Amino acid sequence: MPRRIDAPLRKPDANLRRNENVVRRPTLAIDVGTSGSSAVLVTSERDILVEDPHAGGSVWPTSVAYDGTSPRVGAAAEGFGRVHPDKHLGRLKQFLGEPGKLVLGEGSFTAAELAGWLLAEMREQAERVGGVEATRAVITVPASYRAGDPRRDALLEAAARAGFTTVELLYEPLATVEAPIIGGSFAIGDLGLVIDFGAGSTTAALISVLKNGTVELLGHDERTECSGAEIDRLIMTELLARAGRTWSDYTRHSDDPAQRMRTARSRRALEDRARAMKHQLSVHPSAIELIGPDEVPVELTAGELTKIIAPSLLKSVDSFRAMLNTRGVRMTELAAVVLSGGGSRLPITEDVVTDTFHRPVRHTVDQQRAAAEGAARFARSIERRHVRARVATDKETPLRWDLPGGHATDLEWQLEPGARFGASDALAVARLDDGSLWELRPGRTGTLVRTHAATGANINSGDWLVTVELDIRPFR
Ligand SMILES: Nc1ncnc2c1ncn2[C@@H]1O[C@H](COP(=O)(O)OP(=O)(O)OP(=O)(O)O)[C@@H](O)[C@H]1O
Ligand SMILES: [Mg+2]
Repeated sequence: MPRRIDAPLRKPDANLRRNENVVRRPTLAIDVGTSGSSAVLVTSERDILVEDPHAGGSVWPTSVAYDGTSPRVGAAAEGFGRVHPDKHLGRLKQFLGEPGKLVLGEGSFTAAELAGWLLAEMREQAERVGGVEATRAVITVPASYRAGDPRRDALLEAAARAGFTTVELLYEPLATVEAPIIGGSFAIGDLGLVIDFGAGSTTAALISVLKNGTVELLGHDERTECSGAEIDRLIMTELLARAGRTWSDYTRHSDDPAQRMRTARSRRALEDRARAMKHQLSVHPSAIELIGPDEVPVELTAGELTKIIAPSLLKSVDSFRAMLNTRGVRMTELAAVVLSGGGSRLPITEDVVTDTFHRPVRHTVDQQRAAAEGAARFARSIERRHVRARVATDKETPLRWDLPGGHATDLEWQLEPGARFGASDALAVARLDDGSLWELRPGRTGTLVRTHAATGANINSGDWLVTVELDIRPFR
């Protein structure tokens, strides 16, 4: 029987919790979102929300602009981009990991460079408001950014460009689980589902809380049909139809740069209005905006919006249910479903999730800052993330050699783990600087247990290269 989500956490493990608040280096916890990013500065004393200085808001638009001499980021980039759409780039996250350069006015830059501008300004602002140096960061990444993903590398490069010298990555759903959740978070032993309604995608992540309190990501599914951006597009289509306009008015190509600029501006204005209506409709039964060059007043009700989004939402949620099935998890095993992301402010999301999973639904306290707040908590638990050395047992003997000249290259193992060897057999061969090949011999009989340098490695005198079990152990 799964635990209820509001069951009290078991007494925390004293060893794990003792050092929870020791933050040796101030750390900036950053969530890079498709539409907005947030940052929290973590010091030993407190957490400080780092706001975008240009808007005073807690969420920085994930946007950059280049005015020809210097970068602008966040709200400053958004403001500049309203006038100069050709020198502005929003939804920067969607370009991470793409090869080539992006053109902003007279300049062209890689996505990592542009993301570096945003992270650098966040770091500067954090140092300003915190009065400390912040060179360590915890940055959240979508669950789909697995090891080796070029989007990860682009973010790490951006962070290095921004002056961060130590950067930890944390999967967004694992950060969300650590964030404040209304009614309390998961308990040890729980299985849970975290659904993030973001601007770029909707992601469901299956998590479990291990005995030591750490949270494990067991599976995820990412869908785009009801992302915030996609919902905005559906609303725009509806508004245009009601105002007697078509998409072609907003996508028509022109050779005249002034006309192109006008089209880009009006498309942007339409997008802003659609989004504003969506936000209003999450709390009000109806919303009205002036649409198109003739400023036709168009009204939309919450019920109508629900009808527009429902098919995409149901499709995503069906896919999430299938993901649970594939993982062999029954819905009744879920302690709860946690909803987060700006899109979860639309009441229909909770209705559909409840009807699908029949499990308790919980919300993060702040939908858009949750990942950054959770990352801040993770930054505090740095003391947990260490491993202690395992000393050799009586049976294991590590071997090392003194190499003529001190080092060698092109190490090549001659035996596999488990192989027996005689005293003068070659365990490996390596090349000295003069090009000669030298055998690394054990000098005693025994069995090879494990090698500690890869074939092809460069090695130095004194490196522990292999662990063996000797037939007659040396006197220690
Ligand atoms: N009140 C609201 N009602 C409906 N949607 C909202 C509301 N407030 C914000 N949103 C939408 O939420 C989205 C932004 O949410 P969030 O900040 O969680 O996404 P993100 O982190 O930028 O994107 P992602 O996680 O996909 O990278 C936008 O599409 C925005 O329009
Ligand atoms: Mg997000």
